[in-house]
Amino acid sequence: MDLQQLAPLRAQQTPLYLQLHHRFRDAIASGKLRPGDRVPSVRSLASALQLARGTVELAYQLLVSEGYLQPRGPAGTFVTPRLASLTASASRPTPQPVPQAQMHSPIVPGQVLPFQLGLPALDAFPRKTWARLLARHARGMDLAGMVYPDPAGHAGLRQAIASYLGIARGIVCAPEQVFVTAGYYGALELVCRTLLQPGDCGWFEEPGYRFARQFLLRAGMQLAPVPVDAEGLHVAQGLQQAPQARFAVVTPSHQSPMGMALSLPRRLELLEWARQRQAWIVEDDYDSEFRYHGRPLPALQSLDRHGRVLYSGSFSKVLFPGLRLGYLVVPHTLIARFREVAQHLPSAGALLLQATVADFMEQGHFARHLRKMRSLYAQRRSYLSHALAQQSGLQQQLQLHLQPQAGGIQLLARLEPGVDDQACAAAAQTQGLAVQALSDWCQCPPAQGGLLMGFTNMPTPQVAQEQVQRLYRALQ
Ligand SMILES: Cc1ncc(COP(=O)(O)O)c(C=O)c1O
Repeated sequence: MDLQQLAPLRAQQTPLYLQLHHRFRDAIASGKLRPGDRVPSVRSLASALQLARGTVELAYQLLVSEGYLQPRGPAGTFVTPRLASLTASASRPTPQPVPQAQMHSPIVPGQVLPFQLGLPALDAFPRKTWARLLARHARGMDLAGMVYPDPAGHAGLRQAIASYLGIARGIVCAPEQVFVTAGYYGALELVCRTLLQPGDCGWFEEPGYRFARQFLLRAGMQLAPVPVDAEGLHVAQGLQQAPQARFAVVTPSHQSPMGMALSLPRRLELLEWARQRQAWIVEDDYDSEFRYHGRPLPALQSLDRHGRVLYSGSFSKVLFPGLRLGYLVVPHTLIARFREVAQHLPSAGALLLQATVADFMEQGHFARHLRKMRSLYAQRRSYLSHALAQQSGLQQQLQLHLQPQAGGIQLLARLEPGVDDQACAAAAQTQGLAVQALSDWCQCPPAQGGLLMGFTNMPTPQVAQEQVQRLYRALQ
């Protein structure tokens, strides 16, 4: 299509990037841009329309976050193929980003929807550095990179992880204790197969990370929901409810999804329970890097004197989830048992990727990236919380109350008692907004519902405001 048709009018009051965004949406709706079409690069569109690159970038980010466009790395950016059924309908003036039939799950593979949880800021990933390191490894691949890998993972990466954990999380471990896994699921699988039997009972935080719950249930585990309060997992209630438990799965740095840290007295209680019962504690330290007030407590594992904690970390939030890489740190005494089991499981991501992550860490890019992301997320979090507070002030019928959290990459907004959060989340999802209901993270209905929202891919206050307005319209 003729690029000049996309040109914003400088005389208009609407910001240029929003005008550009609307032109793209109209072009998609009218079929001038078709699903699967490649859109011009930021640089070429900026030069064709005589706009600043930042303006085009903002418009593209918004279109990507709404699901109209899909970035595919060096191949370019494309109109989302799944929009086909929508643009075919001439009677619909503005397409919804995702067909309704696909919206029952808040996660649509290959897409970034507004409010999507669990994703880092994909626009801020240092692609050039990553591509350079990856290319260097691909070019210089030696025999060690081509043969069957060590089942515990790439030696350099295990070394880099051990050093990082020592500095950042107070964990003293040897590289031999580190097992590279296919994300958190890979770590859970390794633990289940090495230490647990189907039918074993475990304490699971209530509310707690819904995907880990589903994974463990499918692996045949019985899960006892143990409530969390302001100090995190209520250990005494766990003892009362399921004294026979053989394991506990916890998120001590930043409880998922409520956001509090497990207090020191509770940490000590939990470790003492594990020692006495010879039980295992799985510590899921999925996003401790992102904290906006004060310093995080060191990992629970750093207090473990009896080898009961299995510490799990993931590269999904700190790099990107498409990598499918995480790690498990096991007590010294269990290395041989874990190695034996790891040999018979599919290994984690290709050596080439593992070696690239190792370089990324060793050369200081990782620490730099984390520092940048911490301040970026503090900013984007404030965009969303301000937009929510503003709308909440305007809308008397529907009040959302933000749950204070010291860190993390999502926000929890509590609904008034009696408001059905699952119905709210379903209404939002049919409009292409990927909020999730707190009830879906619980085994028993919570006293007060809430909505979980991601903010990492909201690049500006205006985008946050627009998305919050869309959310309110959907909820009403
Ligand atoms: C609570 C929690 N634990 C762990 C993870 C990491 O999972 P994975 O490594 O499979 O991406 C996530 C990701 O969203 C999470 O929210």
